[in-house]
Amino acid sequence: MTRQSIQFDNLETIAIVGCGIIGRRIALFWALRNKKVAIFDINNDTALDARKWIHASFDKYKASNGHPVGEVNVAPTIEHASRGAWMVIECTPETVETKREVIGQIDKFSDPSAIITTNSSSIKSGDLVNYVSESSRGRVLNCHYFLPPEIPVVELMTCGSTTGHTLETLISALSAAGLHPITAKAQSTGLVGNRVWAAIKREVMMVLAEGVVNPEDIDTVFRLGFQTRLGPCEMMDQVGLHTVCDIEDHYLKERVYLPSYAVDFIRQNYVAKGHIGRTIGRGLYNYTELERSKGQPLRREELVGAWELAEYATSSLADPARKVYPLGDHLKGIIIYTLTGHTSVHLQLSGDLPIDTNRVPEGLPRDLTNTGMRSLSYSGPFSVREEDGRSIVQHHLTYSSLPSWQGTTQRRLAHVEKQGNAEFLVLGLEETTQFGGEEWRVMLRWRHLPNVSAS
Ligand SMILES: NC(=O)c1ccc[n+]([C@@H]2O[C@H](COP(=O)([O-])OP(=O)(O)OC[C@H]3O[C@@H](n4cnc5c(N)ncnc54)[C@H](O)[C@@H]3O)[C@@H](O)[C@H]2O)c1
Repeated sequence: MTRQSIQFDNLETIAIVGCGIIGRRIALFWALRNKKVAIFDINNDTALDARKWIHASFDKYKASNGHPVGEVNVAPTIEHASRGAWMVIECTPETVETKREVIGQIDKFSDPSAIITTNSSSIKSGDLVNYVSESSRGRVLNCHYFLPPEIPVVELMTCGSTTGHTLETLISALSAAGLHPITAKAQSTGLVGNRVWAAIKREVMMVLAEGVVNPEDIDTVFRLGFQTRLGPCEMMDQVGLHTVCDIEDHYLKERVYLPSYAVDFIRQNYVAKGHIGRTIGRGLYNYTELERSKGQPLRREELVGAWELAEYATSSLADPARKVYPLGDHLKGIIIYTLTGHTSVHLQLSGDLPIDTNRVPEGLPRDLTNTGMRSLSYSGPFSVREEDGRSIVQHHLTYSSLPSWQGTTQRRLAHVEKQGNAEFLVLGLEETTQFGGEEWRVMLRWRHLPNVSAS
């Protein structure tokens, strides 16, 4: 079968078995492609909660892809979910026995032509087919999603018996759905994304277990150093620390030379206490506390000092961790608040300035134009006020390099955040913009500068 021969519209129903953190996202992804999705979870409340979450997420994504959405139904058993589906996706915890059992059940109840995939992060599908009949193994394979609907890459890997027809059909369907499938050429414990990510996670867990720095510092170094949207600790919290540990256990079993102290540390200090990550509000970070600190009214004295621009980003209101950086790291800046109630702000785009000459007056007008186009400065008194439970910093501009701002009051939503030893002032524009069916806000994040000694 060629890729072109797949009739995407005819591939109607998809079943998902296990709808925890990732299963529900995969279900959402396919429902957004107007596919009918049957979801089953051993815990019926989880399945009901997943359906609620999927429905609540429709609005966020619907507008961006323009398709009508498909029905999402909770199935009472694996049998009900699997019957009639063209693809059944196993999405249960990262333990070999559970996955083997579940895939065996799917084989028993699914249509003989249905594709059976496992979303396992580290286990080869070839190790999961013990209870699958010989005749069905040709339709089993790994198909690993990252974080749908946002992240469009998927990785495929044969179970050793997967037929070319199964692979081609799936690749066509995934491509038609807007995903980027990458197929492994050899069987591997963990696909490429997982293996690279596993190495990062492992080292991060060791850094934490050895008490080198805290999660905030790891994320700051990573985000700024590698220019990523999230740091690895934020990402591990998003995945779920219980799953992170299960995945690492699987690698440890196969790679006996790896030490286990780091995963033991995460299990004892986080998972055993129920701090499994973002979904419950506590993992490597305490999200409840972070939210609470944001909700505190800002005091004027908290602003006093000098702050250096750490980040200029546009952030999604629905998920503030989702950010885009329209200027990369090219914008530099400083903001100073004095005890006497004055502020001075300077922002400048970095890069070489085309200076014509150092001689005055010939080079001066053009140099000033060049620098003026790349920088913004203003100063004047400032004040802080509370409005509807939000802190607003008001900059009353006496001077401004932008003539139209002179005499105006620039209002910014504001809060102060602590990350380890670092303190950040976050200033956001009040107005938001619509993009891709989502609402976004420009946020400037300023790091508090230490006092400089007078000597
Ligand atoms: N979390 C992620 O970001 C992520 C990303 C890619 C891949 N994965 C992989 O996807 C799989 C699921 O991960 P998760 O994070 O969603 O885990 P999870 O613990 O959040 O969800 C697993 C779900 O499976 C259900 N379950 C357990 N046994 C079952 C059974 N016998 N039948 C039906 N349902 C059962 C559980 O009730 C739970 O709701 C794992 O293999 C994981 O490695 C996870």
